[in-house]
Amino acid sequence: MTSQKIRKAVFPAAGMGTRFLPATKATPKEMLCLVDKPLIQYGVEEAVAAGCTEIILISSRGKTTMEDHFDANPELEASLAAKNKTALLEIARSVSKLAKVVVTRQPEPLGLGHAVLMAKEIVGNEPFAVLLPDDIVDAEVPCMKQMVDAFEEVGCSILGSEVVEGDAISAYGCLDCTADPLNPRLLNVKNMVEKPKPGTQPSQNAIIGRYILTPRIFEMIEAITPGAGGELQLTDAIKALLLHEKVYGYSYVGKRHDAGDKQGFLRATVELGLKHPILGQSFRSWLKSQSF
Ligand code: G1P
Repeated sequence: MTSQKIRKAVFPAAGMGTRFLPATKATPKEMLCLVDKPLIQYGVEEAVAAGCTEIILISSRGKTTMEDHFDANPELEASLAAKNKTALLEIARSVSKLAKVVVTRQPEPLGLGHAVLMAKEIVGNEPFAVLLPDDIVDAEVPCMKQMVDAFEEVGCSILGSEVVEGDAISAYGCLDCTADPLNPRLLNVKNMVEKPKPGTQPSQNAIIGRYILTPRIFEMIEAITPGAGGELQLTDAIKALLLHEKVYGYSYVGKRHDAGDKQGFLRATVELGLKHPILGQSFRSWLKSQSF
């Protein structure tokens, strides 16, 4: 049990985004625009809302637009200032002021566990958050904030979780768990399996792309061998961590969109478009006026 604060958030973002071709041939998947901002900005804003002050991007070749997005753009700012476009200037500036952004690279796509391992030196000896940018969680209290609040109670690793129906569970890490009698949002985890074959899943509780992990996870990742899909799986490392420390699941309140998938991205676009503070109302009227 630790009482350290969660200050750092790791964003594995080195993948090739093949599920989204051709859009991702030359553009990082994380930079696809959902309503009016890139996917990765949603996750970064969520981490900042949870109290994180340092964002660690795990990047790879050809993906520098991600770090540019969170950097200042003096030419753009000067041009907007000269034209007195103060609202736009504020939007442009606010993105670069969100947090300190540190970038490191994953040279080869060896799996999610390996991607997280790339952050070992930057994270150091403190608990940290991991957010997978594909998972967009729409929630009144940001999902990672809910998890940080729970972490402050229990002081050990916590995995965001939700129930998924039927064989869809085979696309996820799956928890063998029971709800904690004192706080049913907390799940006591006994075991876990990455991408169980249909019919073999221990439950319908999936791990979603939100984690709080203790630094011992790095030792565990270093010790695992390739698992599902021949990759170094984060789930396998957390399973190894279970032998040393308690790990909880957390049934967050909110709705997740798998925006790394074309269908999920379209749905997220409509739902978040309808909720957008400026565009929402007129988008709703337009949708209603259509006879699809
Ligand atoms: C990854 C994790 C998996 C988790 C999922 C959540 O899988 O390996 O355990 O359930 O993210 O989105 P991927 O989607 O990269 O196959």
